[in-house]
Amino acid sequence: MILVTGGAGFIGSNFVLDWLAHSDEPVLNLDALTYAGNLHNLDSLRGDPRHVFVHGDICDRALLDRLLAAHRPRAIVHFAAESHVDRSIHGPAAFIRTNVQGTFTLLEAARTHWQALPADEQAAFRFLHVSTDEVYGSLGPQDPAFTESHPYQPNSPYSASKAASDHLVRAWFHTYGLPVLTTNCSNNYGPYHFPEKLIPLMIVNALAGKPLPVYGDGSNVRDWLYVKDHCSAIRTVLARGRVGETYNVGGCNEMTNLEIVRTVCALLDELRPDPAGPYSRLITFVKDRPGHDRRYAIDARKIERELGWRPAETFATGIRKTVQWYLDHPQWVAQVQSGAYREWMATQYPSAHAKVA
Ligand code: NAD
Ligand code: DAU
Repeated sequence: MILVTGGAGFIGSNFVLDWLAHSDEPVLNLDALTYAGNLHNLDSLRGDPRHVFVHGDICDRALLDRLLAAHRPRAIVHFAAESHVDRSIHGPAAFIRTNVQGTFTLLEAARTHWQALPADEQAAFRFLHVSTDEVYGSLGPQDPAFTESHPYQPNSPYSASKAASDHLVRAWFHTYGLPVLTTNCSNNYGPYHFPEKLIPLMIVNALAGKPLPVYGDGSNVRDWLYVKDHCSAIRTVLARGRVGETYNVGGCNEMTNLEIVRTVCALLDELRPDPAGPYSRLITFVKDRPGHDRRYAIDARKIERELGWRPAETFATGIRKTVQWYLDHPQWVAQVQSGAYREWMATQYPSAHAKVA
């Protein structure tokens, strides 16, 4: 079996579903179920013996040791993290704890487990660390896209904590020989995306007739990748990636935030027209994110050249599926909009910051 950490979050749950759709190899899913973890994402696996869920923390070394000894996974795919940049600005401590201390604890548990394996199992073992393009910092408008050798220049508490975790993973390979792989991916979107992030927030706010808060002037650029393409990239790297290497994963799809929001509005106008008028009337420019990175862009030629991976979705097909998924799953949306979610929205979007476009 494989051990997946953070498999109840956005990408982790998509990965677990995708993995079990492609293989019968069981998944041991370790997740602390923070505000971002949601077992309803995995409802379709209820009663499926291939999915074993454990509610626990990657900082708990004793638990990790017990799980590794009992289940003897052949690989660890490490998603568990605090993932939201804005939350890292309000409260960085949780990011240092999970992303740095948690990754360190997981690496140490993995190393102990791996060192005790017989030679053939040791050779086959993999630790795949899921990371982000944000570790590379911010690009100017004409800069070439991030390659794997781009210097690390993280600018937010979130990206600094992810950069730290990448460095630990690299060091555990060079120092101890732990067979690691690292992926650095661009912005994902798709089903089960928690509505604190740009695309799902715009969809759920628009449907509720609420303002669509665009930071600054809306011209920051991200490189968007459909989440199922990220899952296929991780499967590919796990199967054929060269140990000790990092692989950048991206959608070759740079867009400004304003373009993204307008695209979401246009799709909603088509699929769920609002008698009050076009959804773009709700676009509201708000105070910018402190230290807001201007542009991310991924050069994904290495993973294509070495491993033959390419995204299957264009942005046009992926965003249509995504908007349709949110329209089809109002109960999921209602369930994640708990009391804790409402508190976050009040902290992050105080009405004083909003001015109508
Ligand atoms: P998410 O916030 O949706 O999910 C994170 C999951 O980790 C949740 O289920 C949460 O309960 C769990 N978790 C948090 N702390 C934990 C702990 N201490 N122990 C065990 N579980 C814990 O995040 P996501 O968007 O799915 O991102 C997954 C990974 O991919 C992260 O490492 C993130 O840095 C990386 N990544 C995300 C994106 C993106 O666009 N979302 C892009 C590139 C890389
Ligand atoms: O690049 C990969 C990263 O993408 C991941 O590592 C992170 O885990 C993930 O959260 C995401 O980070 P971003 O900060 O790019 O994503 P977010 O959805 O928070 O914001 C996307 C852009 O939209 C960013 O430029 C900020 C802007 N934005 C965001 C929100 C939530 C707004 O304009 N308004 C908003 O309300």
